[in-house]
Amino acid sequence: MANVVVVGAQWGDEGKGKIVDWLSERADVIARFQGGHNAGHTLVISGKVYKLNALPSGVVRGGKLSVIGNGVVLDPWHLVKEIASIREQGVEITPETLMIAENTPLIMPYHGELDRAREAQATGSKAKIGTTGRGIGPCYEDKVGRRVIRVADLADAATLELRVERALVHHNALRAGLGLEPIDTDALLAQLKEIAPEILQYAAPVWKVMNEARRAGKRILFEGAQGSLLDIDFGTYPFVTSSNVIAGQAATGVGLGPNAIDFVLGIVKAYTTRVGEGPFPTELHDADGERLGTRGHEFGTVTGRKRRCGWFDAALVRQTCAISGINGIALTKLDVLDGFDTLKICVGYDLDGKRLDYLPTAADQQARCVPVYEEIEGWQESTEGARSWAELPAAAIKYVRRIEELIQCPVALLSTSPERDDTILVTDPFAD
Ligand code: IMP
Repeated sequence: MANVVVVGAQWGDEGKGKIVDWLSERADVIARFQGGHNAGHTLVISGKVYKLNALPSGVVRGGKLSVIGNGVVLDPWHLVKEIASIREQGVEITPETLMIAENTPLIMPYHGELDRAREAQATGSKAKIGTTGRGIGPCYEDKVGRRVIRVADLADAATLELRVERALVHHNALRAGLGLEPIDTDALLAQLKEIAPEILQYAAPVWKVMNEARRAGKRILFEGAQGSLLDIDFGTYPFVTSSNVIAGQAATGVGLGPNAIDFVLGIVKAYTTRVGEGPFPTELHDADGERLGTRGHEFGTVTGRKRRCGWFDAALVRQTCAISGINGIALTKLDVLDGFDTLKICVGYDLDGKRLDYLPTAADQQARCVPVYEEIEGWQESTEGARSWAELPAAAIKYVRRIEELIQCPVALLSTSPERDDTILVTDPFAD
């Protein structure tokens, strides 16, 4: 049985929600493997809108197992609130339908404070990362620094105390330097003891559950968050998130071997957007950029920030397709391009007079890269809601085919509106 990883192939916000929902209907297990509640996934099911941050998209569908893997960082207070609000919409969430890996790191209130204090103290837009302020980075730092509190620690008072003490030695020193009040050990312990039973009811050895599901031939959907260009190793560092978001992380982020992955689906928007700071070679600061933002409703779902918009960058997507081993892409928001006379696609960069077919790693070189564009004829007809190639104007098909050629990866799905059924299926990622 095929297992599918879904990853964003740009800077996030590629429209994963709809595709993940479409796929999760056909999956048995839906697992989050990285990131945290910095992600914002909007699902529209039978006219009802569900907004998810930490919960896997599978929770809104009955009869599925939703899993939060160890690669995620989890804010327990946020999770409890998110569960309550999704329950209010009539969705049932039980320990049978939601499991959280026992080795998942927990985001503490001081992680968020540190995240926000650092951003506030960073001088100028070059020093700011433009984070979501949710403590994601500081929590991952603590995980690697071996001082994070994990789900399993909530189960034993003595262990929890030790973990909290260890974490606070570090954090209170850091907070003093930033002019923040020290954290009181007893107060934090009391807060954790109160939330513990709410979280522990879902705690499970997820690595075991996932391996058993795989052996039983269940269909597993690995739900990525953010996008490959925000990857901690391969993204536009340091303007990235603090986890590996690329497909290889799906295995380590839940405790399966890499051979459990059969198909990697990259979600790709028909143009480019980015929230937060950092390089963006094809960014537009003109009427075309404004038009993409307005037509595409490009505002962040978590922070409400206006997204930066630009032309499609085939060089960058070719790069992320290679790094994640993407087998096929789901191309989204093609309809946003309706009505342009001419479209541009970036095919490479000019760096100090030399032509490059990839974005170099060094920040100074990235800043000097000038996009090399290819112009493509636009189309005036509407592509919104198209459900077959025959419904698309010839120029739109030409645009899609050119993208496939340039990124060296075929289109598996084409999405033409936020509605689930407005999708052209070329290759079924779950097919054996
Ligand atoms: P952090 O993940 O909050 O640390 O933010 C680091 C960078 O990743 C910032 O540029 C954020 O805007 C960006 N980011 C984090 N999560 C998402 C997401 O779900 N979509 C798009 N950008 C994101």
